[in-house]
Amino acid sequence: MDATGISVPKSEFTYLKKEQTLTRQYIIVQNDKLEFPIYVYRFSDTEYSALWMKCTHQGAELQASGEALHCPSHGSEFTNKGMVSNGPAEKKLRSFPVIVQTETITIDLRQS
Ligand code: FES
Repeated sequence: MDATGISVPKSEFTYLKKEQTLTRQYIIVQNDKLEFPIYVYRFSDTEYSALWMKCTHQGAELQASGEALHCPSHGSEFTNKGMVSNGPAEKKLRSFPVIVQTETITIDLRQS
């Protein structure tokens, strides 16, 4: 990673099971420089969302479960596009642009 973005190979979204290649819905990107992890959801080969896993209510770290993000502190829930689906949080999650290339995606952190 550098200061402006994180590149992730698209192959991170696939795995082998019984000789079949399956696709994961999402991955969590985490490293030392990030204060919170980033949830990266794959809608299709060309469409992804990247969401900061910090609750907009009081800043707790969110937990991913499938297509939703839950807050363990007071129960807020967010969709895989970062919209609030359950309060008390009122604001949507911070999201980052994702640049999609043939083999990799890059999460653009410059707005952070
Ligand atoms: S900090 Fe997440 S719901 Fe309160």
